Amino acid sequence: MTNPRGPVPVSNHKITDQHNRIFDYLRIAVNERCNLRCLYCMPEAGLDFISREDQLQKDEILRVVRVVSELGVNKIRYTGGEPLLRPDISDIIADTISVPRIRSVHLTTNGLLLESKARELKNAGLQGVNISLDTLDAARFFQITRREGVEKVIGSIRHAVKLGFESVKINMVVMRGFNDDELTRFVDFTHDENVTVRFIELMPFDAHQIWKTGHFMGAELMLEKLHALFPHLERITGTSTEEHIFRRPGFRGKFAVIPAYTRSLCATCSRIRLTADGFIRNCLYANDEYHLLPLLRDSASDKEIGDFIKTAMWQKPVDGWTAQKQADNGKRGSMTMIGG
Ligand code: GTP
Ligand code: 5AD
Ligand code: SF4
Repeated sequence: MTNPRGPVPVSNHKITDQHNRIFDYLRIAVNERCNLRCLYCMPEAGLDFISREDQLQKDEILRVVRVVSELGVNKIRYTGGEPLLRPDISDIIADTISVPRIRSVHLTTNGLLLESKARELKNAGLQGVNISLDTLDAARFFQITRREGVEKVIGSIRHAVKLGFESVKINMVVMRGFNDDELTRFVDFTHDENVTVRFIELMPFDAHQIWKTGHFMGAELMLEKLHALFPHLERITGTSTEEHIFRRPGFRGKFAVIPAYTRSLCATCSRIRLTADGFIRNCLYANDEYHLLPLLRDSASDKEIGDFIKTAMWQKPVDGWTAQKQADNGKRGSMTMIGG
């Protein structure tokens, strides 16, 4: 844990850093637990998860949302672990939407529980869902997640589209020799369905380091393959992670390549992360963390909470490579503890 200190942030009204970035997007992990055991994320036996008392409570989450909304944050994403395992997730979303300056609330999920909860989430005001799905093949799904469920996840995707969420995205982590032969099938999915498929680079956030076993495929190579497969692509614009995003003429959906490992997206980074145990993490690759939870539990004022977050973000490294260099071996051996 690190206590924020150092130079005072320049802006009183916005959350900024020393590299001219402004942070308007907060990702909050509401839960470390997950009902899958993806090879690149968690060991089969699970992890030593934090106790429920040590995780952010609904009122604490809402307090942070209100404070940062006064400092220019307008987009909230709930992540995990699996956020839909949290029983109060719809209430959290409904209350988040009612915060005046919050313009959008999204959720990243593995999709297993989404079909049954989608209507409730939509009614609560959720605008978008990003659903993780690395393969369309049942046997491969089991290999990567160590659980059954590909049909359920595909059903959730179709159901979410039918319900009319503003945005439905599929996150596919591309692994060489495992699912890189499925690029075409995933792009084909965008023919009839208005979804965005995102091909994501494998990142080194699992204790077992499967990413070192030759499965990594970089964004450049993915782009090369995609351009070779589909010579006539229309380049469009997307969110800050969707650095390369395209549409095939005549297709309803889009697809993107996300350089999560090669990190060419850092200059426009707009994200603040809050972990399920209440730490601010100013970069996905940084291990320096700022423990906000005690302030939330020790009757700190809104101003103190806002200043704490501003100072933590002010110290953000220039990019994810610098962050990684500065990092020692942190306590988080899994993506599920960082929040995606
Ligand atoms: P949108 O708001 O729809 O663009 O979603 P998002 O990409 O911000 O969120 P999501 O939870 O769907 O994240 C998908 C993947 O993007 C993650 O698994 C990471 O691989 C990558 N990603 C998200 N945020 C960051 C980040 O800050 N840095 C890096 N390097 N990768 C990120
Ligand atoms: N590399 C790349 N993406 C990962 N995710 C989880 N672990 C990794 C990793 N090691 C992805 C999930 C999900 C998103 C939030 O993070 O597939 O879509
Ligand atoms: Fe932002 Fe760090 Fe991700 Fe780069 S690696 S986009 S700086 S969070």
